[in-house]
Amino acid sequence: MVHTPIHVLVIEDNPGDARLIELMLSEQAEDIYRPSFAVRLAEGLEILSRQPFEIVLLDLSLPDSHGMSTVEAVLEAAPATPIIVLTGLADETTAMAAMKAGAQDYLAKGQGDGETLRRSIRYAIERMRTEEDRRESGERLRRALMQTIQAVGLTIEKRDPYTAGHQQRVSELAVAIGRELDFEPERLEGLMLGSVIHDIGKIAIPSSFLNKPGKLTATEFALIKTHSAIGFDIIKDVEFTWPIAQMVRQHHERMDGSGYPDGLQGGDILLESRIICVADVIESMASNRPYRAALGIDVALAEVAKNKGRLYDSDVTEACMRLFKEGRFSFGL
Ligand SMILES: [Fe+2]
Repeated sequence: MVHTPIHVLVIEDNPGDARLIELMLSEQAEDIYRPSFAVRLAEGLEILSRQPFEIVLLDLSLPDSHGMSTVEAVLEAAPATPIIVLTGLADETTAMAAMKAGAQDYLAKGQGDGETLRRSIRYAIERMRTEEDRRESGERLRRALMQTIQAVGLTIEKRDPYTAGHQQRVSELAVAIGRELDFEPERLEGLMLGSVIHDIGKIAIPSSFLNKPGKLTATEFALIKTHSAIGFDIIKDVEFTWPIAQMVRQHHERMDGSGYPDGLQGGDILLESRIICVADVIESMASNRPYRAALGIDVALAEVAKNKGRLYDSDVTEACMRLFKEGRFSFGL
């Protein structure tokens, strides 16, 4: 049976400990371990930058580094390489902190035999692979979720040629505003999803109303206004990590309580919905509609600025104005 060699980088300044590890790695028949040695952290990082290793055995107290910063430096230099921390007997707290920071295992020096060390190495490598697989499949699922929601968004727009691309463009502006307001990446993802399907409830509105060139009757308008509550009903049972259904329900609420469906005011409206609201108004005014030609971005921005604080959230409006005025955002085609 042919064994794949396991390259082990031992970063250890005590020559006796390093020698012991070398012996423990060699005392088995298959001869699969290929150890390299470094005495200082800088030397270890340099070796790591030149060739890949399957595992790093890391002493936390080195001449040029001490404690947790040693682990962090190695993790940063080789994030995909598992680390086993070598500690003194009294160092269990540090060892546990190292595990929390991303080390796969720890071994107390002077304890355990060669088999313990080798088992720990095999286990750390396997565990790292499993973690990597899990991370990748999580990432694939996340991408599939994003793409599915985007497909749902496109489906709604297929019925209505005038608003083709509307939700996508609103979503791009909403995310840019969210970023301007220092949203974390995780929260931006939720904002992206909520904005890209914010009009999902329009699926229940006859397309003859949505595409009507003339003025709508009061009844027709009342019916169109039901779309945000209908959207909420459609997605309220989906277990998103973000309040997507609320974002959809509240995207026509206004700061002074004059919006619909619930007449919410100010801070009672989800910040995401206040953002989608502004992005929606800007995009709608800047685009052609069945009942009018595009008014242009300047008119759209002036409308939002005029009603800042009354209809539209002040911080959101200002963030949006900055993006356009400083040329940091423009709508795609
Ligand atoms: Fe809407």
